[in-house]
Amino acid sequence: MNVSDAIRSRKTIRAFTGERVPRAVIERILETAARAPSGGNLQPWKVYVLLGAARDELVRRVAEARAHNPMGEAPEYHIYPPHLTEPYKTRRFRIGEAMYATMNIPREDKRARLEFFGGNWEFFGAPQGMIFTIERQMQQGQWADLGMFIGNVMLLAREAGLDTCPQEAWAVWHRVIREYLNVPQNEMIFCGMAIGRADPSAPVNALVSERAPLEEWAVVRE
Ligand SMILES: Cc1cc2nc3c(=O)[nH]c(=O)nc-3n(C[C@H](O)[C@H](O)[C@H](O)COP(=O)(O)O)c2cc1C
Repeated sequence: MNVSDAIRSRKTIRAFTGERVPRAVIERILETAARAPSGGNLQPWKVYVLLGAARDELVRRVAEARAHNPMGEAPEYHIYPPHLTEPYKTRRFRIGEAMYATMNIPREDKRARLEFFGGNWEFFGAPQGMIFTIERQMQQGQWADLGMFIGNVMLLAREAGLDTCPQEAWAVWHRVIREYLNVPQNEMIFCGMAIGRADPSAPVNALVSERAPLEEWAVVRE
């Protein structure tokens, strides 16, 4: 698989089979992903890998917390800008509608939508997942570095025949995650990621997201 194949075949998967990924495979993906560039070679990424029972326990704790607080707490950072403008607002709306349309869940059916969304906090069925954190001292540049690292993880997963779902949804459970994984106070929980094998029979996995054409976001001068 070349880089273009990995990029083109990567898409967010929201239903996984129960097949376990060996620890060595995940460690190798992470080691290779850490060849990502970072300003000043800071390598500001941190990751907590949850396999099998360790994953189950986080899912269990979040399910318990959800009983009191179905949507979680305010995250420690703004997942989206507080006043999202166009064209971003429409893009966000469209992907949400397209996703629920694959499962025939209409806009009015808030309960069904919420239930599906809650699958985030079960890593969408994947028996393994990860939580990415970054120290609070880090600035925008280092968050970008973290993004490149996470991007590498997703592409290397493709090379290993695996699929992923990056998940900011985990950020609303920062307190539960911090307590369970003993995440130091100076680290902020950025996002999680489900990793495993896509369930090909799940309608939601048929979703292919749109992209704006190059002219909309690139300025090329000669
Ligand atoms: C940092 C990050 C966090 C995301 N968080 C979630 C999430 O919590 N739940 C989810 O279902 N998708 C999440 N996504 C997936 C995006 O919705 C998805 O990348 C986007 O719609 C484009 O679709 P594609 O990844 O299939 O190309 C996240 C993506 C990124 C990069």
